[in-house]
Amino acid sequence: MQKAKVRVDKDFVISEIDKRIYGSFIEHLGRAIYTGIYEPTHPKADEQGFRKDVIELVKALKVPIIRYPGGNFVSGYNWEDGIGPKELRPKKLELAWRSIEPNEIGINEFVDWTKKVNSEVMMAINLGTRGIDEARNLVEYCNFPGGTYYSDLRRKHGYENPHKIKVWNLGNEMDGEWQIGHKLPHEYGRLAREVAKVMRQVDPDIELVVCGSSGPGMPTFPEWERIVLEHTYDVVDYVSLHYYANMPGPNHIDLPDNPDLKSFLAKNLEMEGFIKTVVSTIDYVKAVKRINKNVNISFDEWNVWYHSFKKDKNVEPWQIAPPILEEDYNFADALLVGCMIISLLKHADRIKIACLAQLVNVLAPITTVKGGIAYRQTIYYPFMHAANYGHGVVLLSKIDSPKYDSKLYTDVPLLETVVTYDEENSSITIFAVNRDPENDLLVEYKLDGFEGYKVVENIVYVSDDPYKGNTPKNPDSVVPTLANNSKIDGNIVEVLMPKFSWNIVRLKKNKE
Ligand code: AHR
Repeated sequence: MQKAKVRVDKDFVISEIDKRIYGSFIEHLGRAIYTGIYEPTHPKADEQGFRKDVIELVKALKVPIIRYPGGNFVSGYNWEDGIGPKELRPKKLELAWRSIEPNEIGINEFVDWTKKVNSEVMMAINLGTRGIDEARNLVEYCNFPGGTYYSDLRRKHGYENPHKIKVWNLGNEMDGEWQIGHKLPHEYGRLAREVAKVMRQVDPDIELVVCGSSGPGMPTFPEWERIVLEHTYDVVDYVSLHYYANMPGPNHIDLPDNPDLKSFLAKNLEMEGFIKTVVSTIDYVKAVKRINKNVNISFDEWNVWYHSFKKDKNVEPWQIAPPILEEDYNFADALLVGCMIISLLKHADRIKIACLAQLVNVLAPITTVKGGIAYRQTIYYPFMHAANYGHGVVLLSKIDSPKYDSKLYTDVPLLETVVTYDEENSSITIFAVNRDPENDLLVEYKLDGFEGYKVVENIVYVSDDPYKGNTPKNPDSVVPTLANNSKIDGNIVEVLMPKFSWNIVRLKKNKE
């Protein structure tokens, strides 16, 4: 059997974990809103038309922040279309996804929904077709207490208290040719700076996210970040990054026809390379500008995306809520999502916000059947485990693991792992993936500085078939189970990780 060793020390802390690293994203796209979170005719709809079964599944994920309303959608969106009496709201052509937007849900309803799921909104503004004026009006509508045109309009719409939306995206993927109102880096940098200044004048407490690259494969990466930050460094708080694993392109793996699972599971390393380069670029601009403040990362779109491309080509345009970007995730995808979460946590010193893209139906951990059930996709589970148990600080891990070379990547460790420590609850959580599709892996964790801990739970997620997923007929086909694969002796924890598995070991200090 292959073996690996990991050493952590209570004093060697990478960073505190900002709970917003477990954020998600809902766009006016496909069936995310309509027949996703909102379906007034559904038997489980509440008084506002929101599906209560979906609310329960989202609550269990413990998502602290949800990005809204896009995505590519936002670059053509007029926020005023989604406020006021529903019967007066316009139906519009939605150009980003070639759909029809009924505007039955807008900012106010979405804020209500986020409260129902114990979350809050991270708001994106339109910098594709719009600019300074609409941005300042939107902040006034959402965050100003009252006594002005837009704040009083909100009150007239039934929302006496301001929404106090804290985090704002200055547009979406403005580097992409596909974006409505795509811009060159200096054009976007100038606009983002001026918009940021007025938004802060309306509400000085907000945090601002400037668009970084839509992915590491973009031809303008990382010059985009450098130029945009040279314009905006002093007026923004975060740079936005997006990464989807296994989109069509040079590194696409055609699963299951060419089952190169070893390359597939290493894709999070590409994501980590992206993070490192952006951190370096941010710090380079900081040095050039001779500014003390740090700009951090909002990784506000990340996930696996490759199943829906072919079938989406057959969907008729100009429908309300077309079934697009609906990924039927399998077990291998869940393991890669686990690896990606570990990558985000390893960089928690700079990643303060991250959004699993998305949340319901579109590239999502939760799928709904119109008029029927809502169920968990395979990727739901690793995200839920991390958001529920990955709190406190991330400890620096010294990992000694056997490595492999795959068709696309070299020096890939069999073991992907991170350890978090929550001092308040005297608890340690080990998150780990055994990437090996053929063999189990025995891992020894030496936890320096920790005395008197015991294993309270060991969860393992495995499947007899890596391409199996959950379906409406069989919604619990691939679920994690409790295991007995770990033991502790002093401060040494030994974990037997089955081949191709996601593993959680939760430890707590014995009460004296
Ligand atoms: O999440 C789906 C789409 O992916 C978003 O609208 C866009 O920002 C990204 O390209």
